[in-house]
Amino acid sequence: MTERHVYAQDPNAPERKAVTVPALRAMKQAKTRITMLTAYDASFAAKLEAAGIDVALVGDSLGMVVQGHGSTLPVTVEHMVYHTAAVSRGLKSTLLVADLPFMSDRDVATAMATATRLVAEGGAAMVKIEGAGHICEVISALADRAIPVCAHLGLTPQSVHKFGGYRVQGKGEEAAARLLADAHAVQKAGADMLVLECVPSALAAGITAELEIPVIGIGAGADCDGQVLVVYDMLGLTAGKRPRFSKDFLAGRDSVAAAIEAYIKDVRSGAFPAPEHSF
Ligand code: KIV
Repeated sequence: MTERHVYAQDPNAPERKAVTVPALRAMKQAKTRITMLTAYDASFAAKLEAAGIDVALVGDSLGMVVQGHGSTLPVTVEHMVYHTAAVSRGLKSTLLVADLPFMSDRDVATAMATATRLVAEGGAAMVKIEGAGHICEVISALADRAIPVCAHLGLTPQSVHKFGGYRVQGKGEEAAARLLADAHAVQKAGADMLVLECVPSALAAGITAELEIPVIGIGAGADCDGQVLVVYDMLGLTAGKRPRFSKDFLAGRDSVAAAIEAYIKDVRSGAFPAPEHSF
């Protein structure tokens, strides 16, 4: 028994082929929608694995939904490594992505050191980085060293103060053109995947059609190559008002497993997100 076969893994989880970076690109080409949810601990990770989710994201949203902060900004590299390693112990075939937290991508050297820890200590197969501009240099350096990168554009929560709140991005011609240019720039820099958060559906559809890499939406409409949600939102656990782009998949079902399975089914079929979850 290896260290990876530990307490949280579900012995009844179906055997699957490991989800890899090339496999995600093949899914885009085959028009098979990619399913992704956040996870922050081994037990939830094991539920995602057992349901057959493609990608688990250790998001810095843990600063809000696990730690109770008002933003993702207080999350540290240490927190991310801790939670990534915990999630890794619950997974077998699901691809594990981990966020570079606030300012850990401020320059190439710092981003490289952080990504190294998330991959080597945390067990991540890919790291996610918010933004474009100077971040393209970071993406390119990581890609050159064979660390897969998921870019993140649109509503990038680490820029909450700059945006003046959690607002839909890419509205209006100029903002849409900028977002499209940024999407091309992160792909050119070497990103293997892109998360688009809270952008108008038509813009997200256009970006998805133009890019070769898979585009995963959250509040970005149904025409992306896949969808991601914060797992606590889609289980109705998040305090306060549920974000418009989310849906409580536990409502009317009797288990976490059933909710995750319903999410996977609805994403794969295109039933989620519906127009009321989009902008
Ligand atoms: O931190 C996070 O959970 C994320 C997702 C919302 C995409 O970035």
